[in-house]
Amino acid sequence: MNVLPSGRMRFIAVAVILCAGFFWPTAFAHPLGEWTKLILTQHWPQTFCSVEKCTTNLSFWTLHGLWPNSGMRCNTSWHFNASLIEDLIPEMKKYWPDLRAPSSPQFWKYEWTKHGTCAAKAESLNSQHKYFSKALELYHKFNLTNVLKNNRIMPSEQHYTLDEVETAITSFYNVKTKIQCVHPGKGGQVQILGQIEICVDRDFQLIDCEKSTEEIWSNDIPAVAVSGQSELSVCDHSMPVYYPPVPSRS
Ligand SMILES: *[C@@H]1O[C@H](CO)[C@@H](O)[C@H](O)[C@H]1NC(C)=O
Ligand SMILES: *[C@@H]1O[C@H](CO)[C@@H](O)[C@H](O)[C@H]1NC(C)=O
Ligand SMILES: *[C@@H]1O[C@H](CO)[C@@H](O)[C@H](O)[C@H]1NC(C)=O
Ligand SMILES: *[C@@H]1O[C@H](CO)[C@@H](O)[C@H](O)[C@H]1NC(C)=O
Repeated sequence: MNVLPSGRMRFIAVAVILCAGFFWPTAFAHPLGEWTKLILTQHWPQTFCSVEKCTTNLSFWTLHGLWPNSGMRCNTSWHFNASLIEDLIPEMKKYWPDLRAPSSPQFWKYEWTKHGTCAAKAESLNSQHKYFSKALELYHKFNLTNVLKNNRIMPSEQHYTLDEVETAITSFYNVKTKIQCVHPGKGGQVQILGQIEICVDRDFQLIDCEKSTEEIWSNDIPAVAVSGQSELSVCDHSMPVYYPPVPSRS
């Protein structure tokens, strides 16, 4: 075997590290093919349930997922294990519920297998506990329910313009987010606010959610289980936005 002298090895190693640092502006690909961006996705329970025919009285945005921009199902033998995140479960039940089956861990298992195992390629997220607790942390930090409310965008029968919603969100986060709506069928007059994506870099700092990721991630949920999600698409400026309130109990 032809072994390189260790001095030369060391030189190569150092050169590789230097180049990686040098040619790696955060917007570009990671040198090891890892993700460069995480998409924190939240959905509005009333809209979700109007499509999925579930019922919910939740009046805050709930977590949908934390998705890296590269990779899916990166390690299918790394099984979800709820006992590893036992301390997080009460919070997950509240803020990350499976709206179709509120007491089931199925949704977390799905998100872990599809996205978490890829996020876990970064040391900062390389365990189930790190992944789920980071998602919850970011969710609290970027409190969307609060941001909208502080800008007087409240669930109600009143309609908003997409500009109003965008301005509220952008003025707080200062980055481009992705705002998705359920569009009406033929002849419909309003679009229903459904899902909002907020993006962070590998240091969990806010960055723009670029257009290029939109197509890739717009069909996240399993086709059968959450068929209605395919009705979500980027809200458009030509139509009023409906932010549906929690129906009053009768
Ligand atoms: C929402 O529904 C749950 C379960 O049915 C109930 O325990 C809770 O009191 C309700 N909350 C509100 C605000 O109506
Ligand atoms: C996949 O996950 C399993 C279980 O955690 C682990 O033993 C294995 O090394 C992982 N495989 C890869 C390619 O990371
Ligand atoms: C889940 O994790 C716990 C705690 O580490 C461990 O004892 C248990 O064997 C794991 N369960 C499975 C099915 O891997
Ligand atoms: C968001 O902010 C509101 C109002 O300050 C608070 O009641 C709520 O608990 C916060 N939600 C999260 C997930 O931190």
